[in-house]
Amino acid sequence: MSDTITIIGLGPMGQAMARAFVDAGHPVTVWNRTRSRADGLTGVTVADSVEGALAAGDIIVLSLTHYDAMYDILGPYRSRLMGKTLVNLSSDTPDRTREAAEWARAQGASFVTGGVMVPAPMIGTDSAYVY
Ligand SMILES: NC(=O)c1ccc[n+]([C@@H]2O[C@H](COP(=O)([O-])OP(=O)(O)OC[C@H]3O[C@@H](n4cnc5c(N)ncnc54)[C@H](OP(=O)(O)O)[C@@H]3O)[C@@H](O)[C@H]2O)c1
Repeated sequence: MSDTITIIGLGPMGQAMARAFVDAGHPVTVWNRTRSRADGLTGVTVADSVEGALAAGDIIVLSLTHYDAMYDILGPYRSRLMGKTLVNLSSDTPDRTREAAEWARAQGASFVTGGVMVPAPMIGTDSAYVY
């Protein structure tokens, strides 16, 4: 059974991740502040609201300009994060990522972070991995 994935943030990187997760067979729901950025995506469900996006996914992937955007988006819906896994792949400082991990834990969520080291067109390709 595939994990249900929600992607929040549809810049070039979030869009590339959405395509990769769809190609891997996961049910993918997306939400973006500017809804039209989902227009070119196929095989995804576009959520009408942040609440809907959170409800649809067990794993919530965040691909945003910086960590402040995560608080802007999820702050009003803290009560909906219990039991979720937040995977924040946005770029920011180590201190900001540690703060975010504590914030997520305080909401009853698990937190995973990472830095993306390749440009968006390489996501999901063999070239994205160093062997
Ligand atoms: N692109 C790459 O090749 C690349 C490579 C390595 C790492 N990264 C990192 O991956 C992350 C995403 O990259 P990207 O190129 O996709 O970034 P981006 O073009 O800056 O897009 C980021 C997304 O964040 C949203 N956003 C920003 N501030 C927001 C706020 N206050 N409230 C709600 N939404 C907000 C934007 O929504 P709107 O559409 O509504 O503006 C957009 O969908 C960044 O942290 C970047 O440093 C990117």
